[in-house]
Amino acid sequence: MLERRGLERSTIEGMNGSIVVDAAIAGGGIIGLSLGLELRRRGLSVVVIDRQQAMSSASWAAGGMLAVHDPQNPPELLPLSLRSWELYPSYLERLEALSGKHVPLRTARAMQYVDSAYGAGSGDVAAAAEIAEFAPGLDVTGHIFEWLDEGSLDPNDVRDALPAAYLAAGGMLLEETEMLGVEGAANGVLVQTSRQPISAGMFVNCCGAWAGEAGRGLGRLPVAPVKGQMANLRCPPERLRCVVRAPGIYLVPRGDGRVTIGATIEHVGFDETVQEPSVRKMAEAALSLLPEAEAPPQMDMWAGLRPGTPDGLPILGRAEKDHCWHATGHYRDGILLAPVTGRVMAQAMMGETPDVPLENFAAARF
Ligand code: GLY
Repeated sequence: MLERRGLERSTIEGMNGSIVVDAAIAGGGIIGLSLGLELRRRGLSVVVIDRQQAMSSASWAAGGMLAVHDPQNPPELLPLSLRSWELYPSYLERLEALSGKHVPLRTARAMQYVDSAYGAGSGDVAAAAEIAEFAPGLDVTGHIFEWLDEGSLDPNDVRDALPAAYLAAGGMLLEETEMLGVEGAANGVLVQTSRQPISAGMFVNCCGAWAGEAGRGLGRLPVAPVKGQMANLRCPPERLRCVVRAPGIYLVPRGDGRVTIGATIEHVGFDETVQEPSVRKMAEAALSLLPEAEAPPQMDMWAGLRPGTPDGLPILGRAEKDHCWHATGHYRDGILLAPVTGRVMAQAMMGETPDVPLENFAAARF
């Protein structure tokens, strides 16, 4: 079990067995750990707590598309998305340098369905020769697609590398640990957990779909779970080498014969069960685009909970309670937005000007 890992030098054990740190982060997903890593770079002592294992919820279940130009994204997200895409190469290099684990971009282009009623978006219309090169297995009959400069990665690779990188950077990780509450204290907060208390200068709520629950006492936070069911089809890797997004379905080839397909969008509370009929229906939509793929009888299927917000934008910045912050509500783009979230949150917490203004993402907008 990975319950308590990496007690680093500058972390002090208080007299009552409490942990004393500069920053305590609730939520060991890609957002919490990326922020922890960034704070470690700046020399802060950090503890991340997770009620399960790190990277075991939405961060692992995600499709892994770095969907900077998805027309379904709210326009206000674009500056954050672009900055994060810019930061991605150095973010992945840092993960590798610290963990020794390479996280490859498994695709470097995306084909986005164009609704002919609205015309093309930000990319170039995909010509037949390019489709034959990158997606020879795709049946595009009657559809128009455009090319987008976007990558994708396999969240399983990040799950291998990120916690290890965070620990190697000197962060502390408490897994299987519930956060019970946050109280004001002299020069910071006291975080009560199902293990020892944590005395911290700052607290950050990175609890994803659970952030609304975890944030009680930090001010109102309208974050709700949005379930997504996913599956893996099988297809020879050379038949699809780019992400494909079409109405109601996306396909993300992993380069090894797996094509991850997703995802349902369901407002059903904290239900992470897989309903095979829903997944099979999604597989049919995928197979109509990629007829050579196979949906095996024993298909890999899983579900995750995205952290949804009323306006589809993340919540990044101060909480109502002193010394407390939120970094959550990334909805469909947590993997894309992890590097920029770590960076702008660390900047805001240290009193610097964030690379991207955070006004649109303030919790106070609700
Ligand atoms: N990131 C894609 C999705 O949420 O389905």
